[in-house]
Amino acid sequence: MIEFKHVRKAFGRRVVLDDLDLVIPPGKITFIIGKSGEGKSVTIKNLMGLMHPDAGQIIVDGEDITRLDEEKLQVYRRKFGMLFQNAALFDSMSVGENVIFPLREHTRLPLPAMLERVEEVLTMVGLPGIQHKFPTELSTGEKKRVGLARALVTKPKFILYDEPTTGMDPLVSEMIDGLIVQVNRDVPGVSSIVISHDLKAALATAENIVMLYHGRVTLAGSPKDFRESKDPVVRQFFSGSVEGPMEFL
Ligand SMILES: Nc1ncnc2c1ncn2[C@@H]1O[C@H](COP(=O)(O)OP(=O)(O)OP(=O)(O)O)[C@@H](O)[C@H]1O
Ligand SMILES: [Mg+2]
Repeated sequence: MIEFKHVRKAFGRRVVLDDLDLVIPPGKITFIIGKSGEGKSVTIKNLMGLMHPDAGQIIVDGEDITRLDEEKLQVYRRKFGMLFQNAALFDSMSVGENVIFPLREHTRLPLPAMLERVEEVLTMVGLPGIQHKFPTELSTGEKKRVGLARALVTKPKFILYDEPTTGMDPLVSEMIDGLIVQVNRDVPGVSSIVISHDLKAALATAENIVMLYHGRVTLAGSPKDFRESKDPVVRQFFSGSVEGPMEFL
């Protein structure tokens, strides 16, 4: 369970998170949505201790992580597996070397166990036996899947997806949304957090949606709550219209 309590973050006079209260329930797929510049990335950076709030608490598994020093934060960050927007694979390394990398960095498993785990996560993302390939030989969708395998390899408790389908064609997007659902179902105890502009994907994939607007949560709830919401900001996000309370800068 993750809870933001009265979190504030400003850059100079620009208040990005304004007394933000946010709950991310365990075991579920939570989408954090909001238009560009509403603070999705800032929220995630604060959650991972890469940025520190000016005020407020961020409670993760009962611990206020805003109080941790850098050494403790490094240990804390191992709770998270992150799938970056561009998959961020090392092009000079094979798929196998990419996926084993976090295990070498953070564990002392014997090599055969590491290799077994690599095969296990590649199978999970539907790409068994491609350890010898190089990222340049892969399609965009395959790169994403390898990136996800690498995020999963150390068995994190939370998987963070940063804009997993932005810029992807519809078929690849659907495949990735399907994978998010599959991983959240098949990996015991895992919680998935997806940052997205994509309301349609959120409605199809999320169990819980949090919409950020002006530094706060406009609405948090199920896809049904969102479909039925009469909140003008939510309605405008649905319609994609420039008419409404939300201004597009
Ligand atoms: N390090 C920083 N210094 C100053 N301002 C920042 C910094 N990081 C973010 N901001 C500002 O905070 C606001 C929110 O940024 P953020 O990156 O969280 O938006 P976002 O919701 O992730 O948008 P997008 O959908 O475009 O990724 C923006 O106005 C941005 O300019
Ligand atoms: Mg962002």
